[in-house]
Amino acid sequence: MTIHIIHGPNLNLLGNRDHSHYGSLTLDELNDRLLNWARDKGVACHAAQFNSESDIIDALHQATNAAGIVLNPAAYTHTSIAIRDAIDAISAPVVEVHLSHIHARESFRHQSVVAPVCVGQICGFGWLSYALAIDYLVQKNTRHQ
Ligand code: DQA
Repeated sequence: MTIHIIHGPNLNLLGNRDHSHYGSLTLDELNDRLLNWARDKGVACHAAQFNSESDIIDALHQATNAAGIVLNPAAYTHTSIAIRDAIDAISAPVVEVHLSHIHARESFRHQSVVAPVCVGQICGFGWLSYALAIDYLVQKNTRHQ
C-alpha cells in the first residue's frame, strides 16, 4: 500500500513563504514528518513537488493505482480544470489538502475547482492537514469503506 503526496507550485519555497499562513517548516522537513507519520502506520509514502501544471497531471496519471493521493494543488486549486479532469480520470482516491484555511483568506482562494472530484478537502491545520489525509486513506484502505 503506497500513498502518494503531491505538492503544487511554490511549495518548494516553504520555510520562506508567509509563516502566518504556511508555518515555518521547509518542504524537506514537512516531507520528513509525513513519511515518518505514514511509516508509523505501516504505510509507504512517496512525496514529490512540481511547479508546473503538466507535471502535476503526469504525476496524477502515474499514481492512478495508488492506495490514495494527498494533493496540495496550491494556486492551481483555484484555476486548473486540467488538474480537476486528471483527478476525475484516475482510479486512486484523491484528498485535497491545504496548509492554510483557504476559506478564511482572500475571496479568490475560497473556490476550489478540484474539490468536487476529490473525496474530501482538509485545510487550515498546517502540516497536520496532510497527516489527517494520510490517516483517512489508511482507514479507507484497511477498513474497506
Ligand atoms: C495553499 C493555498 C493556496 O491558495 C496557495 O496558492 C498556496 C498554498 C495552502 O497550502 O494553503 O500556494 O494551497
